Amino acid sequence: MIVLGVETSCDETAVAIVKDGKEVLASVVYSQINIHEKYGGVVPEVASRKHVQKITIVFEECLEQSKLSPNDIDLVAVTSHPGLIGSLLVGINAAHAFALSYNIPCIEVNHLTGHIYANYIESDFHFPVLALVVSGGHTELVLMKKHYSFEVIGQTMDDAVGEAYDKVGRVMNFPYPAGKAVDDAAHRGKPQYTLPIYEDNEGYNFSFSGIKSAVLNLVNKYQMKKQEIVIDDLASSFQKSVVSVLVQKTIKAVKEFNIKHVIVAGGVAANRGLREELAKQIKTIPNVILTFPSFKYCTDNAVMIAVSGYFSYLDKQE
Ligand code: KG4
Ligand code: ZN
Repeated sequence: MIVLGVETSCDETAVAIVKDGKEVLASVVYSQINIHEKYGGVVPEVASRKHVQKITIVFEECLEQSKLSPNDIDLVAVTSHPGLIGSLLVGINAAHAFALSYNIPCIEVNHLTGHIYANYIESDFHFPVLALVVSGGHTELVLMKKHYSFEVIGQTMDDAVGEAYDKVGRVMNFPYPAGKAVDDAAHRGKPQYTLPIYEDNEGYNFSFSGIKSAVLNLVNKYQMKKQEIVIDDLASSFQKSVVSVLVQKTIKAVKEFNIKHVIVAGGVAANRGLREELAKQIKTIPNVILTFPSFKYCTDNAVMIAVSGYFSYLDKQE
């Protein structure tokens, strides 16, 4: 089954074609990051306008790359939520118009299920699966007992983890989105600053605003005293606190729900500190598999939407 996926929920205009949920036949991602960088975050109105300008070109490029004709497509899948409404509408309209004109069924998918299914390209799922979804807009622990069944067992009460990375990255003078720069700095530095540490009193929910505010306050304090703060060490301290929360809650859920397979999803799945610590901890539990999407499928893309659409379609046939 050949699925064409469309993703425009935030600042990437993306179209991809995937066969049977695994074989990537074409993938085009136009990123607007350099446009939003100067504002320190995504400007919704600018984002939707850019999607309007690019969507047809990205569709055409993707079809050309795949060497397929529209009539070869069996299903169209498009991100319908969550995301910026003006941006989402561009993808939704383009996908439905394309599907309607070639008489192809069109399915709408949740963006986060896309991040989860980005893992399927390189690894089959072994149920029960626990997905740690860590993106710019979301932080969730999702239990999956079978394909296309999602039970959210924990989520953030305030900032998403990627959002916290971007906000502390800003005071460290890294350009938006700052996640990778903070991760790189953390690897150069030593966690010498004291930041709040995780206390297990909120079940599976997360809170990152405390850690974020502690970083901002520390920077303020040093500035007022005209003392120099070592950015690499601050990044390292921040990353240590954040990773420790994510890993401890994940491990607790693995044990409670007898998880066979842990998958990490979303932009922050690219974080080296998280990859290293989670791998180390999962190794201590027998027979649990840990997978991450390859770096190019961690951040927003349409391959993951096509894979999620494929499984949503199969689920509806059952
Ligand atoms: O999944 P994504 O593309 O967007 C949403 O759906 O929200 O994730 C983008 C987020 C940004 O906040 C970015 O700073 C973060 O992922 N990110 C990272 C890393 N690479 C990207 N955060 C921490 N470490 C990284 N290596
Ligand atoms: Zn995303």
